[in-house]
Amino acid sequence: VLVGAVVVAAGSGARFGGPKQLCELGGRRIVDRAVDVARATCDAVVLVVPPDADWTVPDVHAVAGGATRSASVRAGLAALGPAIEIVVVHDAARPLADEALFDRVIAAVRDGADGAVPGVPIADTVKQVDAEGTVTGTIPRDALVAVQTPQAFRADVLRAAHASRPEGTDDAAVVEALGGRVVVVAGLADNFKITEPADLDRAGAVLARRAVAP
Ligand code: CTP
Ligand code: MG
Repeated sequence: VLVGAVVVAAGSGARFGGPKQLCELGGRRIVDRAVDVARATCDAVVLVVPPDADWTVPDVHAVAGGATRSASVRAGLAALGPAIEIVVVHDAARPLADEALFDRVIAAVRDGADGAVPGVPIADTVKQVDAEGTVTGTIPRDALVAVQTPQAFRADVLRAAHASRPEGTDDAAVVEALGGRVVVVAGLADNFKITEPADLDRAGAVLARRAVAP
């Protein structure tokens, strides 16, 4: 089964204050780290970059992204060949995902799921609130997970889910909306998304910890 990866790196990093995917983390750009893990675990990689990008990643096929994350995913999907049967979508802004995590989501789709996403436990209690800010309910935390990328899907299912050009906060949401069966695999607490400048310091600390890990 051929596995293709779409690494989305076409965002502008508004909350970060600039193109975070180009920031160095432990001496390597964030985008290079994300692409490396995809290359190590998938048969083909498409990198989605801003339409006006003046940068590349050597030896990786790059295409121009869209105005939203979902549009950028569609641009990447369109560039993956028809032989690809499993697609892994990954945020360039998650440079700390490891190969084992990619392998877990891919394996779950190989085993029959329409999609697979990494999930981690939620530390905070989550409440539902109305427009006035009054709490209307507390959602049992044991029924919740926070999800990350990489997310793997059957290619035909993901293409069908994106055919109507939906806007979702992740790709699993568009597959779920179509009735697809998406399963959760063990995520990685360190695989947080670089969103704000402080996240870069935190990521640096993770790398330092990994460097001394047994
Ligand atoms: N992304 C993309 N195309 C877009 C928007 C986002 O490819 N039009 C990518 C980002 O590059 C990132 C991932 O989707 O790797 C997750 O998005 P996010 O963390 O929101 O990144 P940005 O959109 O760049 O940041 P911000 O929302 O703060 O502007
Ligand atoms: Mg964004």
